[in-house]
Amino acid sequence: MRIKQSVVEQPAAPEPTRRQFVIRMASVAAVISTSGVLSACGASGVELNGEVAAFNYGVASGDPLADRVILWTHARTSTDQPVRMTWQVATDTSFAALVASGTTAATADSGFTAKVDAAGLAANTEYFYRFLAPNNSVSPVGRTRTLPVGNVAEVKLAVFSCSDYPAGYFNAYDAASSSGAQVALHLGDYIYEYKDGVYPPAASAVAARISAPANEIVTLADYRARHALHKADPYAKALHARMPMIAIWDDHEFANNAWMDGAENHDPATQGTWAARKAIASRVYHEWMPIRSPDPANLLKIYRSFDFGNLLSLHMLDTRIIGREHQPDRTVDAQGRDVADPAFLPYAFNRSRQLMGATQQAWLDAQMTASKATWQILGNQTVMARIVLPASVLTTNLSTASVTAYLTAKGTPAAQRTPAQDDLLNPARNPKISYSFDSWEGYPDARDQLFAAAAKLKTAGKKFVVLSGDSHNAWFNKLTLSDGTQVGAEFAGMSVTSSGFEGVFPPAAFPPATLAGTIKALVDDIAYIDTSRRGYLLITVTPGQAKGEYVYVSSVTSSSYATSVDTLTYAG
Ligand SMILES: [Fe+2]
Repeated sequence: MRIKQSVVEQPAAPEPTRRQFVIRMASVAAVISTSGVLSACGASGVELNGEVAAFNYGVASGDPLADRVILWTHARTSTDQPVRMTWQVATDTSFAALVASGTTAATADSGFTAKVDAAGLAANTEYFYRFLAPNNSVSPVGRTRTLPVGNVAEVKLAVFSCSDYPAGYFNAYDAASSSGAQVALHLGDYIYEYKDGVYPPAASAVAARISAPANEIVTLADYRARHALHKADPYAKALHARMPMIAIWDDHEFANNAWMDGAENHDPATQGTWAARKAIASRVYHEWMPIRSPDPANLLKIYRSFDFGNLLSLHMLDTRIIGREHQPDRTVDAQGRDVADPAFLPYAFNRSRQLMGATQQAWLDAQMTASKATWQILGNQTVMARIVLPASVLTTNLSTASVTAYLTAKGTPAAQRTPAQDDLLNPARNPKISYSFDSWEGYPDARDQLFAAAAKLKTAGKKFVVLSGDSHNAWFNKLTLSDGTQVGAEFAGMSVTSSGFEGVFPPAAFPPATLAGTIKALVDDIAYIDTSRRGYLLITVTPGQAKGEYVYVSSVTSSSYATSVDTLTYAG
């Protein structure tokens, strides 16, 4: 989802004062000592014509299991010649204690990315890895770890979403690199598809954060170049080198407000078929992200599960591409009717609209039922809780008068209400409607079906938590059945850089604390909301509770920043 942003003047971006990154580099001596391994890489004996391969995008690891993890890099020379490499996994940074190794290649066909599934590893163990190419080329060293098995006391996850490059520095990645998290999750919008100057508008972009390519990404080369821009970011490189990432895409890895058969920001007349764009975007995602493709024959499938012993099962969903039916993109229908007009409701609420699709829904039900873990945690794109606002408030853009009138009516005992107040509280006359049909709010039956499954989990003694991105704001929400029974909790993270509600409600007119208080008072299922700050979510799960630390960075317009933390917990 793209939150429409008014052009807000930003303070001038200071000169970058980038922190010096210390990414451990293997010593030349270590490389020379492995030259016997290297010689096995090449058949010709004139590998790369003597050139050293460049590892411009660092290394990454991802999708850890108890015995394996995906290792990723990008390597190329000044030519299109394949770069054959040896990969190594060791328990020490000098690679004296090798535990696994093999060969791979970065070729033109994969955009010079290379990915291996390093298997045969021990559970719950920290490892170091690197790639060696001919002529003593060596990648930075990455650190990763495998998942635990059996009784697990604690798991720490760093959760990200919405890292828009021109919107600012990825300080949230930097803060998380030293957080002690074992695994990073990225819930989507790892990249954005826009041309330079669109999102954010040029006036509020950070001067030093220039998009590449400058155009909207449409072609294979475009999508690769945009992913490369993000992987070249120093804070992104450091995060990927520090911990494994489990990632899912949202719309902007394709185009804004994407669904199965199209997107708000896709024009078949000028940009080719949606099927072709989807194929390119998904191909490049699998090339550039450290994901273990669940079905190499169908790169549109990314939903998959991860078990952290008997403590938690993490189910990473695709609510965006594989099964999503078309959502209303606007709060005005084709006849110009808006949420104040009851005739608008059928447009907004096609209750049976599918979000995950029947196949994924059945898979998720089976995974959650079969899992023996205490916590069933979903990694998901969009906000799931019932976030609905009275039409009277929504259509006046949260005017003070409309908010006051509604809250006064709500706080007045039924016997003392005026007819006008009764009307305000009558769902037929003043329905509650989402500000975004792109979220789960646009898919009520699909959500009811999932919440019914969550209620069954509760009966079976399991606990249900949802992690969400997309909204750019921070939320801690109750997940409730229509009768109000709570079946779980939602920790929804703020963006890494993309602007939140402060882009829609300028802070001068809507002080963030007042706005947050107003929204919380209007929406029953919101326990906590922050509407204006960027950062990441540090989730710590123990048998007794899921703790969400909302780690805010003080700035994204400078690479220097401080952090502050709000903490919310859910015991299940
Ligand atoms: Fe986003």
